[in-house]
Amino acid sequence: MAGREHTFYVSAAPGLGGLLAQEAEECLGLSVARVTGGVEFTARLEAMWQAALSLRLANRILVRLASFKAENFEKLERRVAEIPWDLWLPAHAVPEVVVTSHHCRLYHTDAVAQRVAGVVEKALPGGEGQVPQKIYLRGEDDRFTLSLDAVGEPLYKRGVKTHGGRAPIRETLASAILTLAGYTGEAPLADPMCGAGTFSLEAAMRATRTPPGMYRHFAFETWPSFREKSFAHMKREAQKAQHEVSAPVIFASDLDQGAVERLGATLEALPFGKAVGVGAGDFFALDPASFASEPGVVVFNPPYGKRIKGGNDAFVVRLLEHLATHWRGWTAALAVPKQQVPRPLPKGFHGHPMSHGGLDLTVLIGRLS
Ligand SMILES: C[S@@+](CC[C@H](N)C(=O)[O-])C[C@H]1O[C@@H](n2cnc3c(N)ncnc32)[C@H](O)[C@@H]1O
Repeated sequence: MAGREHTFYVSAAPGLGGLLAQEAEECLGLSVARVTGGVEFTARLEAMWQAALSLRLANRILVRLASFKAENFEKLERRVAEIPWDLWLPAHAVPEVVVTSHHCRLYHTDAVAQRVAGVVEKALPGGEGQVPQKIYLRGEDDRFTLSLDAVGEPLYKRGVKTHGGRAPIRETLASAILTLAGYTGEAPLADPMCGAGTFSLEAAMRATRTPPGMYRHFAFETWPSFREKSFAHMKREAQKAQHEVSAPVIFASDLDQGAVERLGATLEALPFGKAVGVGAGDFFALDPASFASEPGVVVFNPPYGKRIKGGNDAFVVRLLEHLATHWRGWTAALAVPKQQVPRPLPKGFHGHPMSHGGLDLTVLIGRLS
């Protein structure tokens, strides 16, 4: 398994496929192909470990195992049984099969999942403990693609946030917004409606060159092909490239004192936490010169406000007006619901579509000149 090349599918949130392709090429040094919902690349398993460790915009990584036609259960089971499951999975893996079926004669997804799980279980000797393992089977016009989930928990779960918050933005979206705003970890970053602090945590990992997967585990670590020493070496190399940041370069604040305290406690326990300074207060009373000596990037996913004339969100309009007057020279990025995008857009701003939890968002990006 380790010596051969495999094809991997990396999924991204809607609207982020292009950015993910760019990130994957830069970060892995491989050419990747854009496909629906993400990217694909062909490489050895180690490249997939590197992708899981380093990609900030990826949601999931799957290994493509097989693609075949099956019009009936017999053929399906035969094709699934051809896969060397004992080489892929640990003896005690418990398969959870997720099936989609469009225009297939095998349309009963629960029955298909049961059959596939049965074949996989039969191929594994079993053992102490249980390791859940997701397997995806996607059917279209009787052709099925069988894939193995390589990472377990989705990759936006970085394993660093020990607290929740109201309407936190997903880590992958926060990171994509930072990319769109041109944030590379050097300039000051302000997160003045920080809530649970997702933007700040993502920015701190960038500023300190901390890979997003450094503090979590992956499904592939339970596979027989996994080489603990090689992966530990990969992590050590990443550690060597990390930057020490001893004074805050990221500034997080919020009206909600409790949210700020929870974020502060999380940051204290994190090796890269010193990169973020936290404070409580009203954004509209905040003077950027009080914490940054030069303009940088300011990011928000503001609370959704009341709509006013023309569908505009009154809060967003006020926020943009305030930024234009008091945050000159900064680059602003705001994620707002698509229907509440201010029309016309403020001068110098453009919009990038994204989707968050089924809600269509537009990320407004602009330099405040
Ligand atoms: C949608 S949440 C932000 C979520 C955050 N980005 C995260 O990832 O958790 C909006 C936040 O804006 C804060 N907020 C609203 N009005 C504010 C103001 N005038 N000044 C500072 N914070 C404000 C709220 O307390 C809330 O935490």
